[in-house]
Amino acid sequence: MLAIHGGTPVREKLLPYGRQSIDEADVQAVVETLRSDWLTTGPKVAEFEEAFAAWAGVKYAVSFSSGTAALHGATFAAGLGPGDEAITSPMTFAATANCVLYQGAVPVFADISRDTLNLDPEEAESRLTARTKAILPVDYAGHPADLEFFFELAERHGLVMIEDACHALGGEYRRRRVGSVAHMTVFSFHPVKHLTTGEGGMVTTDNPAFAETLRQFRNHGISSDARTRQANGQWHYEMVLLGFNYRLTDLACALGLQQLKKMPANLDRRRQIASRYHHELHDAPGIELPFVREDVNPAWHLYPVRLQLEKLTGGRVEVFRALRAENIGVNVHYIPVHLHPYYRERFGYRGGEFPIAENAYERVLSLPMFHGMTDQDVSDVVRSVWKVMEHFSR
Ligand SMILES: Cc1ncc(COP(=O)(O)O)c(C=O)c1O
Repeated sequence: MLAIHGGTPVREKLLPYGRQSIDEADVQAVVETLRSDWLTTGPKVAEFEEAFAAWAGVKYAVSFSSGTAALHGATFAAGLGPGDEAITSPMTFAATANCVLYQGAVPVFADISRDTLNLDPEEAESRLTARTKAILPVDYAGHPADLEFFFELAERHGLVMIEDACHALGGEYRRRRVGSVAHMTVFSFHPVKHLTTGEGGMVTTDNPAFAETLRQFRNHGISSDARTRQANGQWHYEMVLLGFNYRLTDLACALGLQQLKKMPANLDRRRQIASRYHHELHDAPGIELPFVREDVNPAWHLYPVRLQLEKLTGGRVEVFRALRAENIGVNVHYIPVHLHPYYRERFGYRGGEFPIAENAYERVLSLPMFHGMTDQDVSDVVRSVWKVMEHFSR
C-alpha cells in the first residue's frame, strides 16, 4: 500500500533531491583559512580561479558571491543596457532572466526543444531583432544546449553568448568541456551543485577584456584589488565603473579549491546514478526518462523525468505527494519564468506563449540526484518510483 494511503514508506527518512558532500579535508581547508591573514580578497581567491580556469580549459575564471551575481557580471560585461534584448529559455531558474532585467534590458523568451528541454535553436533565431545583444542558453539539468549553433549565431549577428551552465559543471559538448565554448559561461556553487562554496559562482571566458570588466564589476568597479595595493605599498585606487560587492570570500575559495579536486569522482558518481536510473526505470509505467543527445556527456545536476499524464489516473500533484510520502524528496524544475507573477504583470504573459515549456512543466519531476547518494538511496528511489507509478497507471 502506498505510504500516502497509510502503508509503510519505502524509506524512514526523507532523501532530498540534492545536497552537498563535505569531508574532513574540506573542513580543514576552511579552518586553515580562518586562521590566516586573509578572510576575503586574499590569495585563495586567485588560487581557486586559476585552478578552475585550468580545469575548464579556459584562460580566465572570475569568481562571484553567487551564480546570480556571476550572471549579473556577465550581462554587465556584455554591455547589456536599456533598449537591448537578450534571448533565453523560459525553462530555467528566474535568475537567468532576472540578470537581464538588472541591466535594464529585456529578456526575450523562446520555446525549448521537446527532447532536451533546452532552448530551441530555430525558435531562438526567430526571436532575433535589431535590439538583440546577447543570447543566453541554459544547460537544463546539466545537458549542454546546442552550444555550437548558438555560438555561430552569436558570431554571425555580433551578439554575446552567455551560457548559463549553473547545472552543467563538468558537462561535455562534442568532447569540449562546458565553460570553454561560449563567450562567457556562468557556474553556481550552491550546495546542490557539483561543487559547493556555500553560495558562490564563477564566470569563465577566453576574452581578457571581459575578464577585466568582470573583476572590476564584482569589486565596486574598482580597478585594483586590496592585496595588490598592500603588496605594492599603495593606497591609491580608482573606481572606474559602477560595480557591486559581489566578491567570493577566501573561506569560500578555500572550500572551492578542495571541492574541485573531487570533481572527477563527483561526476563519475552522478553518471553512475543516472545510468542506474536509465536501466532500472526505463520500463516503469507512465514516465519518460531524460533524453541524452549523442554528442554530449551531461553533468547530471538534475534527473528530471516526465509523467505521461494520459496514461495515469492521477496528476503530477498526486504523484509528487505519493513519492514524498515514501520519503523520496522529488522536486519540480521549473515553473517557466514567464509564468511567475512578476513577469506576467510586467510583460503581460498569460500562459500559452511557450507551449513546449509549459507542457513540460506540467509533467516534470526531478528525482534525487547528488554525488553523495548511496547505492541503497538509489535503490529506494527506484523502488518508490515503481511502487507509485504502478499504482497510478491505467
Ligand atoms: C539555471 C540556474 N541559473 C542560475 C542560478 C543561480 O545560481 P545561485 O543560486 O548560485 O545564485 C541557478 C541556481 O540554482 C540555476 O539553477
